Amino acid sequence: MERTSILFDSLLVKAHHLWNNQWVLLTSGDFAEGRFNSMTIGWGSVGTMWGKPFVQVVVRPIRYTYEFMERYDTFTLSTFPETYRRALQLLGSKSGRDGDKIAETGLTPMASTQVAAPSFAEAELIMECRKMYWDDMEPTHFLDPVIDKNYPQKDYHRIYFGEIVAIHGESAYSK
Ligand SMILES: Cc1cc2nc3c(=O)[nH]c(=O)nc-3n(C[C@H](O)[C@H](O)[C@H](O)COP(=O)(O)O)c2cc1C
Repeated sequence: MERTSILFDSLLVKAHHLWNNQWVLLTSGDFAEGRFNSMTIGWGSVGTMWGKPFVQVVVRPIRYTYEFMERYDTFTLSTFPETYRRALQLLGSKSGRDGDKIAETGLTPMASTQVAAPSFAEAELIMECRKMYWDDMEPTHFLDPVIDKNYPQKDYHRIYFGEIVAIHGESAYSK
């Protein structure tokens, strides 16, 4: 995959399309230690917070990836060409607790440039992030009662803000 370094000011993403249609792979852990896990995510945001480029991701505490998000300081977000849709479906339906689902997809984890969490050789866009904030979703703050239907088990997401410390992507992702 032909990726170059992209400055945040030059990053081009169709924000809603990115999360809702394309999907994103969240990876947390430490590549050098050989301890990491990935899961597909469809809810999140990319923007600016406290004057820094940042992403927001939301992770239910039951996810194996949650344990890595809690233990490690960094994570990466990767997007892939459409041909990897089945890999993202698998990583979003199986748990890393139950076996090596990353190996099953054939994707190739690799060292990131600025963070311990790995990224993927096949990715077309990689955002390397350092955790800067977390909070737990507070159901009494849901202003639209429809939101609560997402939580029949009351397993409210933990919200993480990550500062984006490096971006690498194909030319379509920058201007
Ligand atoms: C398209 C898609 C989007 C998803 N978005 C999220 C999300 O934003 N947050 C979340 O906690 N789980 C989300 N999931 C579910 C996890 O990816 C799924 O439960 C996964 O198997 C967890 O793997 P793990 O146990 O190895 O962490 C999504 C799944 C799919 C298929």
